[in-house]
Amino acid sequence: MTLKEAYNYGVYFLSANGVDEADFKSKCLVCKCAGVKNSQFHQHSGDEIITKRFSDMLWRVKQGEPLQYVLGEWDFYNSTFYVGEGVLIPRPETEELTQLAVDFLKDKKNPVVFDLCAGSGCIGLSLAKEYPNANVFLVEKSDKAFEYLLKNAKDVPNAQCVLDDISNENCIAGNADLIVSNPPYIKSVEIDSLQSEVQCEPRMALDGGNDGLDFYRILSSKWKSRLKSGGEMLLEIGNEQGNTVSSLFDNAQVIKDMYGNDRIVKIN
Ligand SMILES: C[S@@+](CC[C@H](N)C(=O)[O-])C[C@H]1O[C@@H](n2cnc3c(N)ncnc32)[C@H](O)[C@@H]1O
Repeated sequence: MTLKEAYNYGVYFLSANGVDEADFKSKCLVCKCAGVKNSQFHQHSGDEIITKRFSDMLWRVKQGEPLQYVLGEWDFYNSTFYVGEGVLIPRPETEELTQLAVDFLKDKKNPVVFDLCAGSGCIGLSLAKEYPNANVFLVEKSDKAFEYLLKNAKDVPNAQCVLDDISNENCIAGNADLIVSNPPYIKSVEIDSLQSEVQCEPRMALDGGNDGLDFYRILSSKWKSRLKSGGEMLLEIGNEQGNTVSSLFDNAQVIKDMYGNDRIVKIN
């Protein structure tokens, strides 16, 4: 079967099974099977692909598995990250936080960065790649997510991955110029009502406790004091948490995302 034929079949199969964005998903899957970028689809439309692999992937998407897990990787900021069961899929909103962090670190000499609740490492590793002179420490508690973190950090010499709980503030020594975190922030009771693809993601990556604020309290009580003078914290938040999260810190400013929702709290 050629790439084009497989794509057409995939669109038909996914649509017939009620999967949304069938054309985009089919294109991503055929291109993954052919080992080409989506932008090279037309150029390679006559290439033969391994039909068995493609049909297995289609089946997994039809069963409700997130496309990103089936592909095994996802683009974030300027690079591609390994993802799969057990690790949160990097989101576009988090790229906005990463961009603010990149802007903050510009012109800083040998900055120290902590990425707390690092998951795939998408924020901290993007910063480490952008600034080879930075020292980036990434803390993650889940064994499964940590496997992805290590894999993603393999060729990033200025990144140090730490398997620990951020409640243990001694898991990293020293102070930071910048602390970034996208912690779990969904209220425990709301998790079961999230859309089914999100429910495939690890609960540990989502659950922020009864009021969704457990991790911000830890960040405030144990990590804010670890900022060097002139340092900054950038925290991703849920769109209804601007006031509550900023009230946990002095000098906090709420920043909106591209959709106009509260998304980031910046603390100086
Ligand atoms: C919302 S995800 C964010 C992952 C990644 N930073 C991102 O933006 O895609 C939160 C991460 O925190 C991790 N985590 C949960 N509890 C933790 C704890 N007590 N200490 C460290 N990491 C924790 C989860 O396993 C998950 O990988």
